[in-house]
Amino acid sequence: MCGIVGYIGEAQAAPILLDGLSRLEYRGYDSAGIAVYDGTDIQVKKATGRLKVLSELTHDGVTMPGTLGIGHTRWATHGAPTDANAHPHYNSTETIAVVHNGIIENYLKVKKRLQDKGYEFQSETDTEVVAHLLDYYYKGEPIEAITKVMLRLEGSYALGIIFRDHPDVLYAVRKDSPLIVGKGAEGNLIASDVPAVLKYTREVYFIQNEEIAVLNKEDISFRNVDGEPIEKEAATIEWDINAAEKGGYEHFMLKEIYEQPKTVRDTLNPRLKDGRIVIEELGMTDEEIRAIQKIHIVACGSAYHTGVTAKYVFEGLARIPVEVDLASEFRYRNPILEEGALVIIISQSGETADSLAALREAKTRGIQTLGIVNVVGSSIAREADKVMYTWAGPEIAVATTKAYSAQLVAQYLLALKFAQVRGTVTDQECEGMIGDLKKLPEQIELLLGSKERIQRFANRYVAARDVFFIGRGIDYAISLEGSLKLKEISYIHSEAYAAGELKHGTISLIEEGTLVAAVATQEALYKKTISNIVEVRTRGAFVMAVTNTGNTEIEKAADYVIYIPQTNRYFTNSLAIIPLQLFSYYVSVGRGCDVDKPRNLAKSVTVE
Ligand code: AGP
Repeated sequence: MCGIVGYIGEAQAAPILLDGLSRLEYRGYDSAGIAVYDGTDIQVKKATGRLKVLSELTHDGVTMPGTLGIGHTRWATHGAPTDANAHPHYNSTETIAVVHNGIIENYLKVKKRLQDKGYEFQSETDTEVVAHLLDYYYKGEPIEAITKVMLRLEGSYALGIIFRDHPDVLYAVRKDSPLIVGKGAEGNLIASDVPAVLKYTREVYFIQNEEIAVLNKEDISFRNVDGEPIEKEAATIEWDINAAEKGGYEHFMLKEIYEQPKTVRDTLNPRLKDGRIVIEELGMTDEEIRAIQKIHIVACGSAYHTGVTAKYVFEGLARIPVEVDLASEFRYRNPILEEGALVIIISQSGETADSLAALREAKTRGIQTLGIVNVVGSSIAREADKVMYTWAGPEIAVATTKAYSAQLVAQYLLALKFAQVRGTVTDQECEGMIGDLKKLPEQIELLLGSKERIQRFANRYVAARDVFFIGRGIDYAISLEGSLKLKEISYIHSEAYAAGELKHGTISLIEEGTLVAAVATQEALYKKTISNIVEVRTRGAFVMAVTNTGNTEIEKAADYVIYIPQTNRYFTNSLAIIPLQLFSYYVSVGRGCDVDKPRNLAKSVTVE
């Protein structure tokens, strides 16, 4: 996600901003920019690409004199990575500059209102809307303008703001996006994250939701959303830089596992409006949705596993036949793609060579393509006819977790939207499922709370030789991902099997003490899966079951049970995968593996 830095003090701001942004590079970004008050005006310099480009453009900040400034590294969400879309953003008279991290969910509505009032926009971003909205409400008193804007924004934001007419003050405000304030010896700072300020101070204030920070050269004060002063205590950061980049977590993977409630929320909320599913970027008319005859979901690795789940959801809800393919197979098997087909490419990076090739194969045949992608402006995002983004933010760990969860909910939304339009679900059913979707983040939060219990169990299996994952239907798709997570970060051999398939060969591999993870979240298949559990158990397996709360019957069959909260049967993957991610993570840590960068693997496989 984006990185924000701000400074006000005795020193030159630009070099401090560039240094702070360099400490946030790990967060992933595609453009950068800084704004500095030079004594008369606010100068802004921004550039697509690495921070180095901006440093060269500003001669390491030397060509931007001034002691008040804000800086930003942008992870594109709304609008491709371009200079125009890079932050900071000005109002039209260039008297206000803003940097933003987060997603303004109602930006289109606010933008329209401002355009109707004559405001002109230079970018595609949601952030520029904030700059003009501040302009609209600014009557000389920054706090008044800021509080009015806060009341009109929906979504998540961390904002750094400077006003030309108030050059002795730096403002910051947040809602659901992180922002901290640092009290330094030579000046005061704001930042998205601790690493950016550690060089200057370890005394920081954590701004809470809808609090405003007001920084002068000497002191820092805080206001609430009503503009009233509030008192806050500073905290002392003990972390070193390395730990701080991971937000205090030991690995990026664990940090990203814990970001999943936010990831799911950020991918869901902008598309749930007044109880309806609105996927603006889809750009498909109801007619076009009704005309879809078949869906091909094509992807690799974990993205493919989300497609295996989505097959059940699309077919179950929208009654559209779905074929799921590995991209590396699809591109060479001369697939039969008929008129009325929709090819959906799922990809976190948007650069996976096989998935990109599959996309191009579909396009050469004149088939409509949709990309479900996490990296804005990536090749698949640019080349697909339509793109639906998973707003998971940059995923640093090679083993995907939060992007996987975002890919799942994106496909739930799509399937439900298609079902609504095609009339295969009633409004009441749809309302119920939207309610279930909205509960997922807090249910994931709940499952993350059982970390210690899973860690203790995982420690018993660090020396395991073979681990099998079994399940039926969507539980089989969950097993595929659970197995991949384990083997790719712990190097333990693992396989996933459709539970009904065991007796056709694999069961001969079950020995005394072999760990079998049985996923049983599909009520209609419980009994079948329980009989498979009994099959392996009688042959010596130790069975860890993952099932729905209330299904205590399974304790008679399994040795160790993890319960997930009740949700719609189509959405259980989003919950069952959480304990499996944690299990794999702790086995990997227990084995001393390089969790974030497992051997032989790359985050994005851009070669065949
Ligand atoms: C999963 O943990 C792996 N990182 C890998 O399977 C990944 O999902 C696959 O390479 C696809 O990558 P993409 O989503 O960027 O296309």
